[in-house]
Amino acid sequence: MGETHSIAVFAGDGIGTEVMPEGLRALNAAAEAFDFTLHTTEYDYANAEYYAKHGQMMPDHWKEQIGAHDAIFFGAVGWPETVPDHVSLWGSLLQFRQHFDQYVNLRPVKLLDGIKSPLADRKPGDVDFYVVRENTEGEYSSIGGKIFEGTDRETVIQETVMTRTGVDRILKYAFELAQASGAKHLTSATKSNGIKISMPYWDERVEQMAQNYPQVTVDKFHIDILTANFVLHPDWFDVVVASNLFGDILSDLGPAVTGTIGIAPSGNINPERKFPSLFEPVHGSAPDIAGKGIANPIGQIWSAAMMLEHLGETEAAQCVQSAFETVIAQRDSSLLTPDLGGQGTTSSLGRAVAEQITAQA
Ligand code: NAI
Ligand code: MG
Repeated sequence: MGETHSIAVFAGDGIGTEVMPEGLRALNAAAEAFDFTLHTTEYDYANAEYYAKHGQMMPDHWKEQIGAHDAIFFGAVGWPETVPDHVSLWGSLLQFRQHFDQYVNLRPVKLLDGIKSPLADRKPGDVDFYVVRENTEGEYSSIGGKIFEGTDRETVIQETVMTRTGVDRILKYAFELAQASGAKHLTSATKSNGIKISMPYWDERVEQMAQNYPQVTVDKFHIDILTANFVLHPDWFDVVVASNLFGDILSDLGPAVTGTIGIAPSGNINPERKFPSLFEPVHGSAPDIAGKGIANPIGQIWSAAMMLEHLGETEAAQCVQSAFETVIAQRDSSLLTPDLGGQGTTSSLGRAVAEQITAQA
């Protein structure tokens, strides 16, 4: 008998409630095939309905409750018709990120066989890298202020915060990831030609950290040309590490060049495992297609694979990954969701992946 992992499950709003069952279906198929136990607990908060009843997104004791789990599996939160987006986001997801010190935002960027890239002439294999975004400091700080409001002298200041601890720990994570990969190659996103205090400091810490990883080749690009190269030369990248703001931009651009947002996964990770890490699709609750049963479940299922990897179930993670890649590559339009050019449904695609997991295991 394998290990037991305890998972907190939040489906959230809109299509979150439609793709979550398919994520769980894949997880259960993997647990059965690879002989481990998943103890999942579904929570009824962090959604618009809970907010309507209680006037807050989560109960006061959420931290004790959720902190005891090994990981968090999240759908998507947000229902702008009834809850302003900043309330739903700050009241749930961002609380997890901050209080559970999930300082790594990890996003795989991979062009899959069977999915059309908006980039002409790119084939699977050309685009296959990770964006590692710093998730807790940098440009997104609350330090600053506003004075002389409403006058000609109106002045606003917002400071970037880079701490040695904060910069070094994200760099270490990225270097470890690069070291463990076949290419052993890391790219740093910078802007030390224009931002002349914090970004040269970032570069300096990269150079320092690189000395601990002599096998890893390091290059750096200023963020402006780096975004251009994501489009022109996506094959140049393996692991890309970036500050909070630059990483935010790159981690949306990356998945965009690989086709549909419906397949993109992400991890919000606390590498020390002092707190649970959170795995979720990149997409939101998609009110425009919610309730129709046509949302693509692959982003949720891919997030499940990332979660299994984090939990140490490497074989199961690879099986889930290979299962959905196989199903997509088969190009059976009766199974694929409309965003992939098919006529299938959330559950037809989810079931096909679960069956493939069982078949491949
Ligand atoms: P969105 O990602 O929900 O939708 C953007 C577009 O992509 C829509 O046209 C949607 O139909 C399509 N789409 C998204 N996921 C899809 C899927 N799995 N299959 C097929 N098509 C898919 O972003 P939007 O519309 O800006 O935000 C809607 C709500 O979601 C807002 O309340 C927002 O705050 C929230 N949101 C939550 C996130 C999270 O929980 N991490 C992330 C992004 C947005
Ligand atoms: Mg973003």
